[in-house]
Amino acid sequence: MKIIETHELTKEFNGLVAVDKVTFSVERGEIFGFLGPNGAGKTTTIKMLTTLLLPTSGTAYISGFDVVREAAQVRRRIGLVCL
Ligand SMILES: Nc1ncnc2c1ncn2[C@@H]1O[C@H](COP(=O)(O)OP(=O)(O)O)[C@@H](O)[C@H]1O
Ligand SMILES: [Mg+2]
Repeated sequence: MKIIETHELTKEFNGLVAVDKVTFSVERGEIFGFLGPNGAGKTTTIKMLTTLLLPTSGTAYISGFDVVREAAQVRRRIGLVCL
């Protein structure tokens, strides 16, 4: 079962493409490292996956729930610590 699934997830800030059509999935129980250089768009992606930021386009599902249309269901199922 896919715990995280994105399709062409995109975020733009005033024309700056911070996350550019990112598509990936993570299976239940999988240990997944999300790596990249500064400015690659990691934090922006995590914010969209955790319902803190709306995507510009594309889709993302957490345990099958849409992070935009079913944000409350997503929030019930996740934990996030921001440092
Ligand atoms: N709120 C914002 N407004 C404008 N630009 C932003 C904002 N947040 C991030 N960015 C820009 O988006 C890009 C990706 O940033 P970020 O997701 O923080 O990357 P990472 O976490 O991989 O270092 C960078 O160019 C950053 O400057
Ligand atoms: Mg970051």
